[in-house]
Amino acid sequence: MKHLLSIADLSAEEITQILDTAVSMHEVQDRQVKKLPTLRGRTIINFFFEDSTRTRASFEIAGKWMSADTINLTGKGTSVSKGESLRDTVLTIDAMGVDMMIIRHPASGAPAQIADWTDCSIVNAGDGTHEHPSQALLDAYTLRRALGDLRGRHVAIVGDLTHSRVLRSNLLCLRALGAQVTLVAPPTLMPSGVAAWSAADGFETSYDLDAVLPTVDAVMMLRVQRERMSGGYFPTAREYAVTYGLTARRLGLLQDHAVIAHPGPMNRGLEISADAADAARSLVLDQVSAGVAVRMSILYHLLAGEGDAQ
Ligand code: ASP
Ligand code: CP
Repeated sequence: MKHLLSIADLSAEEITQILDTAVSMHEVQDRQVKKLPTLRGRTIINFFFEDSTRTRASFEIAGKWMSADTINLTGKGTSVSKGESLRDTVLTIDAMGVDMMIIRHPASGAPAQIADWTDCSIVNAGDGTHEHPSQALLDAYTLRRALGDLRGRHVAIVGDLTHSRVLRSNLLCLRALGAQVTLVAPPTLMPSGVAAWSAADGFETSYDLDAVLPTVDAVMMLRVQRERMSGGYFPTAREYAVTYGLTARRLGLLQDHAVIAHPGPMNRGLEISADAADAARSLVLDQVSAGVAVRMSILYHLLAGEGDAQ
């Protein structure tokens, strides 16, 4: 494995391997001295052309805990803002001898294009509305810890699906691990062509959140991504919260063991109520914590030789 561009490039065995390695990486988080020598001498650039809190920080922490040299660049502070092309920028960074570029970019397909231009390892940290593979892996890791084997488990993915790269990666990942998936959204935010897609991939769709919630083992709420919306997709925020938000009333529809996930950042009061976000069954901060371990595992599988993990 050289790049992590899409979950579609990984077999179920490779996904499971990444999740299994993350279990040992997670132990590092509880140590007083959080340092493994695994990536000593390797250089990783976090190159983010879009805002991020958890993905950028956790990739940086993951690299540092594994002794790599990590550097952060954002679109704004680089010569991209002086008009340098993406290709020239990438070749410039490549010429400095870096081993890996972790890329977040508003254009779908940008990390794959960059992988064609350079010899270094490329990780997709979110590209447009296409994919966010490390998020799906950390979500699967978190759900597996909470529910055990995901085969046959029912996960509802709810919200602004049209604009969500998290949806696309999670659907691929959860299906590969054998989970049953139902997508729930208002008709205006259900991706176009979803009928053919669901028929081919064997997942369900619904417009009725109340009907789906009592049947799930996990509900993953997705953010309303206003920055990607050019028009009005729902009448008012209040109406969206009432019809598709995980409100305090809807918590009562969940089975006792069912858990709540959200990739963050959350719009409290819109797609998720404070009662749901802060509930004992909410995995939101577990997802963040798993993010470091899973990203350590990704760096290990892409950059380290077999046998170096310990
Ligand atoms: N943080 C995730 C992403 O970058 C989800 C979101 O922004 O809603 O795709
Ligand atoms: N979940 C996620 O990708 O969060 P950030 O946008 O803060 O990185």
